[in-house]
Amino acid sequence: MRTATPRRYLMCPPAHFRVAYSINPWMDPDKPVDPALALFQWEDLRDRYRSLGHTVEILDPVAGLPDMVFAANGATVVDGRVLGARFANPERADEAPAHLAWFRSHDGFVEVREPEHVNEAEGDFAVTSSWMLAGQGFRSSPLAHDEAQEFFGRPVISLELTDPRYYHLDTALAVLDDAADEIMYYPGAFSPGSRAVLARLFPDALLATAEDAVVFGLNAVSDGLNVVLPREAAGLFDPLKDRGYVPVGVDLAEFHKAGGSVKCCTMEVRPAPPG
Ligand code: ARG
Repeated sequence: MRTATPRRYLMCPPAHFRVAYSINPWMDPDKPVDPALALFQWEDLRDRYRSLGHTVEILDPVAGLPDMVFAANGATVVDGRVLGARFANPERADEAPAHLAWFRSHDGFVEVREPEHVNEAEGDFAVTSSWMLAGQGFRSSPLAHDEAQEFFGRPVISLELTDPRYYHLDTALAVLDDAADEIMYYPGAFSPGSRAVLARLFPDALLATAEDAVVFGLNAVSDGLNVVLPREAAGLFDPLKDRGYVPVGVDLAEFHKAGGSVKCCTMEVRPAPPG
């Protein structure tokens, strides 16, 4: 029996979203984004979370930061401890202080830390019950993995991404049950050694096909029961159902033009443990 746990999410409206530059292979500034459609898709995602019983808080978008809608990249919050981001590309650098300011102006966080090393937050950090999985190769620095391990006091498993289309860990791997160690991932995005590490730690993982990966099927958000993912990732629906999950397909196609989908738009704010 799967159970959903209520979550706290932080999202940033796509008021200034567009493809203004290209920092990943999906981004083509000549392919325009439809702003009204993007807003509609984003609001649908937000409302979907709320109707599943989750809390969605809003980070004010900043003009001139078209990728800020991808809130997952702004900070990593585990056990009420907040590690800010440091972006690899100058185009996104100013998003980091906007996130830190949000956490500093809200109560209840144990510590809010500005990081020393390049990390793109939940783009490259995924939390399971036993570990933090951490991507490197395109954005986050391996030095940031050590920094996160020290800051969160959780064992960090470094994984090497090798396919530029899957430049963030969350484009190739999603946590399905964070009270256990259940994940799904696309093996083709990882180096041979990292594939072996994943197979060793997660022998029962759901393995995604190239077809489901390329439509951002791994860029999913799970509450332990409901798995919100791009509706195009049809091949994942039955395997998820077979495992007792409820797939919730959404349309975020406008955001795919910038190389992001469900998870990228969603930062999870994980509370301090009770007591
Ligand atoms: N255009 C953004 C970038 O390249 C997309 C970020 C997607 N976010 C994510 N968590 N994968 O940085």
